[in-house]
Amino acid sequence: MRGLVVPRTTGPDGLELRDDLPEPRGAHPWADGERLLVEVRAAAVAFPDLLQSRGAYQHGTPAPYVTGGEYAGVVLEASPGSRFRPGDRVAGLSVWGAVAERVLGIPRYTVQIPPSMSWIDAAAFFLNYATAWFTLDRAGFEDGQAVLVHGAAGGVGTATLDLLRGRAKPSIAVVSSDAKAAVAEQCGADVVLRTEDGWAVRARELTGDGVDVVVDPVGGDRVTDSLRALDVGGRLMVVGFAEGTIPEVRLNRLLLRNLSVVGVALDPWEQRFPGYAPELIAGLEAAAAAGSVRPYVGHRLPLEVATGALGILDRRQALGKVVIDVAAD
Ligand SMILES: NC(=O)c1ccc[n+]([C@@H]2O[C@H](COP(=O)([O-])OP(=O)(O)OC[C@H]3O[C@@H](n4cnc5c(N)ncnc54)[C@H](OP(=O)(O)O)[C@@H]3O)[C@@H](O)[C@H]2O)c1
Repeated sequence: MRGLVVPRTTGPDGLELRDDLPEPRGAHPWADGERLLVEVRAAAVAFPDLLQSRGAYQHGTPAPYVTGGEYAGVVLEASPGSRFRPGDRVAGLSVWGAVAERVLGIPRYTVQIPPSMSWIDAAAFFLNYATAWFTLDRAGFEDGQAVLVHGAAGGVGTATLDLLRGRAKPSIAVVSSDAKAAVAEQCGADVVLRTEDGWAVRARELTGDGVDVVVDPVGGDRVTDSLRALDVGGRLMVVGFAEGTIPEVRLNRLLLRNLSVVGVALDPWEQRFPGYAPELIAGLEAAAAAGSVRPYVGHRLPLEVATGALGILDRRQALGKVVIDVAAD
């Protein structure tokens, strides 16, 4: 089997395309013994795959391993009693292993994909949209509220903007370049601000009292300004730390203005509150079937030249999702 391998956890530059990989056996370790074997048509990498290539991801697997946290493809084998059947078009999380001809899926984090959605778009769907959906749900977002999105042209950012399209009043994107501003606009941002331009002050001016929700997959030194941008009662959603440092928050800032800082991690939530993921999956499937989601794929790489895929994320160059075409046509 062919696949893209991280031979050692020394970072994004050492990827190797190999054609002598063993076929996936048994079930994915996260799948409670339920085998779901998928023929991969397209796969995708995201920031967690970059962290994993450095051995810095909490859910990682030891090297050597096949990279790729998510996939889209056709079910080859499903366990008895599964809601999936051979021949189903699916997409989902694999955490690793997706950039290969076949992958083991995790049934509880797998969605049915309508024929109207391309394999490339489907590979860009699950992780970012599940994260964005869960984030907005945990934030208690209601239509008409103001939401500021950091890293808005990245994977999580573009999906969040897409879900907020026509619902947030307004959605405010924060990005670092012209190219990223154009992506954020295309994904539905009502207002685009630049990281270097006093964005927190501008967000308060635009909204009067401040935003209701900040979605932050970036972290670093912008956290205090994020709190300043919030209205009384606002929520700062902690999604990730792409900037590389984990910020600290002075609690007096929360007390004085009734602010909340809320962590976002789907799997622990599902473990504690089983039944949440099926509800989320049903929502994602309905959105995909209705054609109301438009994943933004900024990079489509044939498998043969995909060894640079993680480097795009590492250089802060990713626009939307980085997708690898394994057999998409
Ligand atoms: N909690 C969850 O369930 C969950 C799920 C998925 C991902 N995540 C986390 O969310 C974060 C974002 O993931 P993603 O897939 O959206 O990543 P991404 O596509 O690479 O986007 C990250 C964005 O962060 C900004 N950034 C600021 N400093 C950066 C740096 N030094 N290097 C790279 N980017 C930097 C960039 O925007 P600008 O250049 O415009 O500032 C970039 O577009 C990661 O930390 C990831 O692990 C969490």
